[in-house]
Amino acid sequence: MQIQYPTIPSPAFVLEENLLIKNLELLKRVQTEAGIEIICALKGFSFYHEFPLLRKYLAGATASSLHEARLIVEEMNEKAHVYCPAFLPSEFTEMCQYASHITFNSLNQYNKYISQAISSNISCGIRINPEYSEIETDMYNPCVAGSRLGVRKSDFKDGLPSHIEGLHSHTMCENDSYVLERTLQVIDEKFGDFLPQLKWLNLGGGHLITSEDYDVDHLISILNEFKSKYSNLTIILEPGSAVGWQTGFLKSTVLDIVHSAGIDVAILDISFAAHMPDTLEMPYKPRIRNASIEPQKGEYVYRFGGMTCLAGDYYGDYSFKEPLNIGDEIIFEDMIHYTMVKTTTFNGVNLPSIGKINTVGKYINYKSFGFESFKDRL
Ligand SMILES: Cc1ncc(COP(=O)(O)O)c(C=O)c1O
Repeated sequence: MQIQYPTIPSPAFVLEENLLIKNLELLKRVQTEAGIEIICALKGFSFYHEFPLLRKYLAGATASSLHEARLIVEEMNEKAHVYCPAFLPSEFTEMCQYASHITFNSLNQYNKYISQAISSNISCGIRINPEYSEIETDMYNPCVAGSRLGVRKSDFKDGLPSHIEGLHSHTMCENDSYVLERTLQVIDEKFGDFLPQLKWLNLGGGHLITSEDYDVDHLISILNEFKSKYSNLTIILEPGSAVGWQTGFLKSTVLDIVHSAGIDVAILDISFAAHMPDTLEMPYKPRIRNASIEPQKGEYVYRFGGMTCLAGDYYGDYSFKEPLNIGDEIIFEDMIHYTMVKTTTFNGVNLPSIGKINTVGKYINYKSFGFESFKDRL
C-alpha cells in the first residue's frame, strides 16, 4: 500500500488547515447573517496552535476549567466565557482574571461567588435545565432525571436572581437546526418571563453546523426570528465538534498482523482506548481511509488492534481492496475534535505527535512526546 504521508511521524494527529478554514468561514457566515456570536468550546477543540486563526473568524472561546480559561487568554489573547459544574474555591480568584463571562451551574454556586464575580466586572449567567433534550444516549444527555447540570425553572423560586445577565443552556449533541428550533421553543415557553431582563442567551454546543447535511439557512432563519422577539439578547453558540469537524486525521502504522481464529488482526502503533477513547465510550466505529467500514465480499478483511494490553482495545472489521502489510500506513479520518483533549498514556503508550498540514501542503510538527509526558502524570 502506498504511503501517503512519508514525512509525517507515526502516530500523529494531523490538522489540515484548509479544512479548518472552510469550517471557520461557514461559522463566520452564520455569525454575520444571524447576528450572533460563535465561540469555540475548548473541551472539544483545544488545538491552540490555531487559536490566532480562530480568533480571526470567531468571537472567542469557552472554558470549562481554569486551565482552559488560561489557555484562551494566553493563546487567543482574549478573555474566556467560563462555565464549570462547580468552581474550586482555591481557583476562583484566578479564574476571575481570565473570564469575561461566568455561568454558574446552581443557585448555591451563584450565592457563593456572585459578589466576587461582579466586583471583577464579569458578566454573570446561570445554566438552566430546560428539561428538554433529543439526545438518545444518557451519557451525553444533560436533561436525564437527576441531572446535576443546570437549574430547572421550578427551582427559581424567587424569580431571576439579581445581577444575572444571561442564561446558558446546553442540551444538544451533534444535533441539527430543527432540534435547536424545538429546544428554543421550550426555552421560550419556560423561561420567556426572564428573557426580556437579560443581555445574553448562550445556547451551548452540540450544533453540528459544519457537517455536510446541516441546514445552515434554516439555522440562520430561526435565530433571526428569535432575535426579532428578543432584540435585547446577544445569542451565543459554543460548538466544539463543529469547529474541528472533519479537519484532519490520525496517522498510524501497522506493526504486526496476527491470524486469530480465522480473523486477521492488524496491530497498530496507536490505541483506541488511549488515543481515540470516544470510539469505545460513545461508541462509534471510526472511518479509515481507503477501507470499507462494512466489509465487502471479495475484499481483504482486517480487524485493527491497539498497542495496549486491553483486550477490548480493537475495532473491526474493515475491508481493503489489497492485502495489508507490516509497515503500511492506516489513516483514521476525522480525528481532531475530542481526541487529543482526551488522550491518556495508559499502558505507558506514547502520545501521538501533533502537527498540521498548512495551506500550501507543508507538514509542520508542533510536538512529539516521550517518557517525560508519561512520567509527569504519575
Ligand atoms: C456546556 C457545553 N458547551 C459546549 C459543549 C460543546 O459541545 P459540542 O462539541 O458537541 O459542540 C459542551 C460539550 O459537552 C458542553 O458541555
